[in-house]
Amino acid sequence: MTSTQAFKTALANIAGEVNAELDRLLPEVAGPEGRVVDAMRYAALDGGKRLRPFLAVASSDLFGVPRASSLRVGAAIEMVHCYSLVHDDLPAMDDDDLRRGRPTVHRKFDEATAILAGDALLTEAFAVLAAPDTHADGAVRAALVAELARAAGAAGMVGGQMIDLLAGGLALDANGLARLQNLKTGCLIAIGCRAGAVLGGQGPEVVEALGAYGLSMGLAFQIADDVLDVEGSAAETGKATGKDAAAGKATFVSRLGLEGAKNYARSLADEAVAHLGRFGEKAALLREAAAFSATRRS
Ligand code: IPE
Ligand code: IPE
Ligand code: MG
Ligand code: MG
Ligand code: MG
Repeated sequence: MTSTQAFKTALANIAGEVNAELDRLLPEVAGPEGRVVDAMRYAALDGGKRLRPFLAVASSDLFGVPRASSLRVGAAIEMVHCYSLVHDDLPAMDDDDLRRGRPTVHRKFDEATAILAGDALLTEAFAVLAAPDTHADGAVRAALVAELARAAGAAGMVGGQMIDLLAGGLALDANGLARLQNLKTGCLIAIGCRAGAVLGGQGPEVVEALGAYGLSMGLAFQIADDVLDVEGSAAETGKATGKDAAAGKATFVSRLGLEGAKNYARSLADEAVAHLGRFGEKAALLREAAAFSATRRS
């Protein structure tokens, strides 16, 4: 098996495991409030590449962390990611009707339910991290909670989404654009990598090395998303394409052109891999994940 095939197989296997974990963590509920749980399950189950959980599990595997722990952390991060997509698709934000090949949550349910489902997925993610099943040591659980809060909040994904909405009028330079994308996308990709080191009891140097890997990969991943918005189809991506230019979004494609953006994404993947040196062969899957992030077609 080539290393690319090994990565695809590992990604599919971990996706299967995380789907089962999410199904267990988000049980259906009776009563009228069950509607919001139905919307949470619709948003979080059945679909998605599950790259963020993969990164949490593969990073944890470097340190021999039990799969039961790393899957819970991966599922928590995926809950936050799914919430971010539900809100990103709302009419007030990107106003999208299609996600993962199906109607978006506000289309399938309604806007208020989509807002609440996003809120509850975000909240539930922290409940998962805080529960003793995630790790026996409360200090480790608290560190994970702090990591995810930072990655998701105004200093992370939410801050990036704010800049994204304002970017048309900001005339961002290349650094400003990279910062927007690091916050919007990079932080939630890097958190899985950092969390693996935290679960594995590693010190700040290793946490930062994996975080730097994740951040470079996250930027490559968002550039690939922006490339697919121009070159890809709804059949490939499961979402409407051709929307960024129409909405006047600031992206590396609008800045560097398609070829320039693709080259930049590939160089970022190399940069990501350079942070993995200390892990040797054990990091083979993570190296492939970086290459995938830059060149993916879905
Ligand atoms: C989409 O993320 C939003 C971005 C940050 C580009 P993914 O491409 O990981 O979406 P799913 O989870 O596979 O649907
Ligand atoms: C969204 O970026 C990143 C999030 C934080 C949700 P996009 O708006 O480009 O993601 P898609 O293309 O809708 O998946
Ligand atoms: Mg958006
Ligand atoms: Mg969007
Ligand atoms: Mg996009």
